[in-house]
Amino acid sequence: MMPNQYIYNLSYPDYEEDLCALEVKSLFNLSLDGKVFFSSKQVDPSISPYLKQRLEIAYRTSSFSDIIELLEKNTITLNDFKVEYLKLFSDDPYAKKRKELCKEVGFRIQGFPSFTSPKTTFGITFYKDNWYFGVLAKNNRKWKKHNSKPYSYSSSLGINLAKALVNIAGNGDFSKRLIDPCCGVGTVLLEGFFAGYDIIGWEIKSKVAENARINLRHFNNPPRVTSGDIQDIEDTFDASIVDIPYGNFTPTSEENRVSIIKNAKRISKKVVIVSSDDITYLILSQNLTVLDLCTVSKGRKGSFIRYIWVCE
Ligand SMILES: C[S@@+](CC[C@H](N)C(=O)[O-])C[C@H]1O[C@@H](n2cnc3c(N)ncnc32)[C@H](O)[C@@H]1O
Repeated sequence: MMPNQYIYNLSYPDYEEDLCALEVKSLFNLSLDGKVFFSSKQVDPSISPYLKQRLEIAYRTSSFSDIIELLEKNTITLNDFKVEYLKLFSDDPYAKKRKELCKEVGFRIQGFPSFTSPKTTFGITFYKDNWYFGVLAKNNRKWKKHNSKPYSYSSSLGINLAKALVNIAGNGDFSKRLIDPCCGVGTVLLEGFFAGYDIIGWEIKSKVAENARINLRHFNNPPRVTSGDIQDIEDTFDASIVDIPYGNFTPTSEENRVSIIKNAKRISKKVVIVSSDDITYLILSQNLTVLDLCTVSKGRKGSFIRYIWVCE
């Protein structure tokens, strides 16, 4: 038995690799090295745009027959289960036989299977000379529904970026208090609530703040958005996620951008800044220390870049 060891696998577009690496580092304290990794930390894949599956390792053996032997020795009695094979690398020689392998495993579980709506999914896989069996958790992708929120602007962040940002800010620790002090229509807030973080929003334009509340209520979240200027926030937070206004989308003055960064530092220990232009000079002018930096382009053509700084 290997208690509390998990195998995770990732799926991400090439142009979001750096963002995925920053999320993995923030959630697991690991450097990205391929699309499969082991960790003792239990993270729900659905909080991330990139975590595809998590296998909780019950058995690790050097042969498939050893897995079968263990299943025969330690009977699992359960209804409504399903067994799936996880293909973790492209030329996995066993992937072609996945149906037979799953059947072999399924026969050793005592109970009625359910192929359409299983309550428990077991996973079996071969990876780097070993066989693994355990309970499988999959990214439910239910967060995709947020793409059709009632209010969205062309300047709104993409859903992958919004999800990664809350994890970069919160490190998967739901006891942390987060704030998006320039929340626009609440794209980041929706992902924060979905993951289970304690998060609130502020937005200077009252109409936009109201639209953020409508978006939040639409998906049964508390409408925790205050209409006001970041400089009026009195509370303090573990981390802030700040999408800096810029350009034609959300025109603003340089003075306001300085004020946003200065106040984000005042109200939070950690500041995750997003911007569509390189504002390193502004960040450094406020004596913030940049711990991490990455860029992410919007789409495969890489036409529209967003910069992300993790600061203290
Ligand atoms: C880049 S947009 C945020 C977009 C948001 N992340 C989204 O996806 O919908 C920046 C927002 O900051 C707001 N804002 C600008 N100055 C502000 C200030 N001083 N305090 C609070 N909000 C401010 C703007 O009205 C704008 O909605």
